[in-house]
Amino acid sequence: MLPRCAAPVCHVLLLVLCLSAAEDFDWTKNDRSSSFYYGTFPTGFSWGAGSSAYQTEGAWDKDGKGLSIWDVFSHKKGRVLRNDTGDSSGEGYYKVKDDVSLMNELKLNHYRFSISWPRIIPTGIKSDHINEKGIQYYNELIDHLLENKITPIVTLYHWDLPQVLQEKYGGWQNVSIVNHFNDFASLCFEKFGNRVKYWITFNNPWSVAVEGYETGEHAPGLKMRGTGAYRTAHNIIKAHAKVWHTYDTQWRGRQKGLVGISLSGEWGEPVDINNQKDIEAAERYVQFYLGWFATPIFHGDYPQVMKDYIGKKSTQQGLGSSRLPSFSSQEKSYIKGTCDFLGIGHFTTRYITQKNYPASRGGASFFTDRDLAELVDPRWPDPGSEWLYSVPWGFRRLLNFVKAQYGNPMLYVTENGVSEKMQCTELCDDWRIKYYRDYINELLKAIKDGVNVRGYTAWSLLDKFEWDEGYSERFGLYYVDFRSKNKPRYPKASVQYYKRIISSNGFPNQREVETWKRRATETCSSSNQLLAADPLTSHMEMVTEIVVPTVCTLCILLSAVFLMFLLRRRN
Ligand code: NOJ
Repeated sequence: MLPRCAAPVCHVLLLVLCLSAAEDFDWTKNDRSSSFYYGTFPTGFSWGAGSSAYQTEGAWDKDGKGLSIWDVFSHKKGRVLRNDTGDSSGEGYYKVKDDVSLMNELKLNHYRFSISWPRIIPTGIKSDHINEKGIQYYNELIDHLLENKITPIVTLYHWDLPQVLQEKYGGWQNVSIVNHFNDFASLCFEKFGNRVKYWITFNNPWSVAVEGYETGEHAPGLKMRGTGAYRTAHNIIKAHAKVWHTYDTQWRGRQKGLVGISLSGEWGEPVDINNQKDIEAAERYVQFYLGWFATPIFHGDYPQVMKDYIGKKSTQQGLGSSRLPSFSSQEKSYIKGTCDFLGIGHFTTRYITQKNYPASRGGASFFTDRDLAELVDPRWPDPGSEWLYSVPWGFRRLLNFVKAQYGNPMLYVTENGVSEKMQCTELCDDWRIKYYRDYINELLKAIKDGVNVRGYTAWSLLDKFEWDEGYSERFGLYYVDFRSKNKPRYPKASVQYYKRIISSNGFPNQREVETWKRRATETCSSSNQLLAADPLTSHMEMVTEIVVPTVCTLCILLSAVFLMFLLRRRN
């Protein structure tokens, strides 16, 4: 029993806790000190790497898998750079053992992967058909991970919607998808939940909504400017909440796992932190990114600033209601609190300033609704993808923002990493080493600031299909030779570096850390030679598989003809 005086003390404590949960983020305090922080992560911190089904599995039409919107989209000419497709990608479907041994090499604590919905439910509709071979594949992967003491963190939706659901209902535009997604999630809980304890409902719903249904750069390639993204997001948030409740009421008791969502959050820094307009614009940037999904999930409704801006613009367009849909009060309380942990995918930062976009009739879009302009500092390194500038301090800012806005929830970094251009066959990726070193160091500083981060996932384990950029951007710690039939993997120098961070659980001291980079790059030149020899190996493969059998067959035929000729002459 509590002592008598404890009750008022509890109230005071609760009040303090509530106040700290509602704490404001201080935009004007940016400690960008470039000084490196030596120290280690909390005991039990989980180190991982990630992938997603469509980007790595290949086997797009094997063993009863149904079509996904990405299969269809990438097969249409002109949608993906150089018309690349994920048809075979790195053949991850056939390489479970090989890839788990790469994870072992790194000594990963967790591996994040996604389940392809059409691989286990080919049409997306559970009552139509369940594909046992698909279930078998994920069973094998999960079992193999667990045998190697690697915790699976499983994403249910990493963009590969069954094509039938897109054709029949309009995909995420139609609220009926909520129940289909819930059926798919329930099937996953039923089949894999005895072994999987970390579930992520959606990966980066911002991209699904904006790039899939607003700009059309991603599958299903729809361009519904000003409305498509908002409607998609609305249904995704409902679907997420439903799945969380399903787990909570039907599975959690037995399976004791956690259900979260992985949101993409790039950081927006005010161009001038002494200018209130810039601060407000930067906050809008972050709210229209991360806050769009996180605020309903943590607080029950869209960020006020989104409601205000989209509402105002819709009125200016002469529309009778806002293009941003609204949640009923029951929906709000159903959605609020549906997150056991929050996944954060973070890659880069922008400078933000205020910029007005007049809402002319029909001209509105997600981007103009925000009334802001994005800028970059030309001194920021941008080694790979055009959009990806390396700005490590933005990561710490974002994490502190999440802590302040959502009451310091349990966080997992579900994606962080950097790419390089396709032409680059250089395994000595010192720029990636620098990126990981500095971003992970900012993460450590954020934990020191009190942000509740439990794990970090390097993105990605392997090079893979990079959506509309095809194979032109390589994010992997391991290089995949896509030209070779067998898709061999080669470690980049960053493998050695990340491995040291993992084994030291951080950055123990300057003397030791300074030797890591040299040691990591020592080995990469020999791997480089192997890779350089690979075209030769592929050539040899072709010689043994095609040329030799063809020549042999010809020889046999010619000898037969010659023999017949001799026999005839004798007669
Ligand atoms: C976020 C996406 O979730 C992931 O699939 C992609 O590879 C990275 N961004 C890099 O573009």
